[in-house]
Amino acid sequence: MIWVGTSWKMTKTLAEAASFIDELSAYPAPHGIQPFVLPAHTALASVRDRLPDGSPILLGAQNAHWGPEGEGTGEISMRMAADAGATLIEIGHSERREHFGETDHTVSLKVAAAVDHGLIPLVCVGESSAARDAGQARELVTGQVVAALSRVAPSRIGKVIIAYEPIWAIGPSGRPARPNEVAPVLASISEVVAEISSGGSPLAILYGGSVNASNAADLLRDPHADGLFVGRAGWTASAFIGLLELCAPFARECVHARPDTWRTQ
Ligand code: PGA
Repeated sequence: MIWVGTSWKMTKTLAEAASFIDELSAYPAPHGIQPFVLPAHTALASVRDRLPDGSPILLGAQNAHWGPEGEGTGEISMRMAADAGATLIEIGHSERREHFGETDHTVSLKVAAAVDHGLIPLVCVGESSAARDAGQARELVTGQVVAALSRVAPSRIGKVIIAYEPIWAIGPSGRPARPNEVAPVLASISEVVAEISSGGSPLAILYGGSVNASNAADLLRDPHADGLFVGRAGWTASAFIGLLELCAPFARECVHARPDTWRTQ
């Protein structure tokens, strides 16, 4: 299965979210593609309620706290995220590491808490341009992966998604990565996960950072890429549907997250 998802980041009113979901829901997701959408917390429950019964679209939250409910102003708990419709929890995005104090330590706590709540952690890792220029991309990224998984039993690592998102490739000022810059890092992520899980693999390894219609297919040709994690290029339903179409030829036969909900073309 190929995972293709978009984080809406800090965008969309409830009306804008509803209109996106209505347009996306009218499109039959290609077989073997797992679409997912990460709305802002404000829109999560309304998007869940808007999805037709049996929709294959998975939803997630862009962040959640590791701790029990109570003190945590401005945060939501894993239980609250699940209650509002999340299946996935994005953890450790570089914007949160840079601006909101996310560290390898808090990432590891959140990953463990998400797994404990039956949620799928979507862990973002990635190096700065300075680290890449210094030849430290693989070392830094695998270190982030090891730290993120440090509180998860090896037998449960198969419940985690890793998204490799080099910081220099993200956002309007990012430079789209070339497949040959991405490939060694994806391979190293796969190797390090196999080491710490005694031969296991994560649920998926995704690539993210300035993914768009012109580079999606080339990035998916990487044998270690199980999908794409998209920001801006997925912020309109029509563009996101276009990406799902582009990814359809790469769909692989494997275990579906929710086989009962799959629609065929
Ligand atoms: P972008 O964002 O596709 O807009 O570069 C990707 C991300 O931050 O996950």
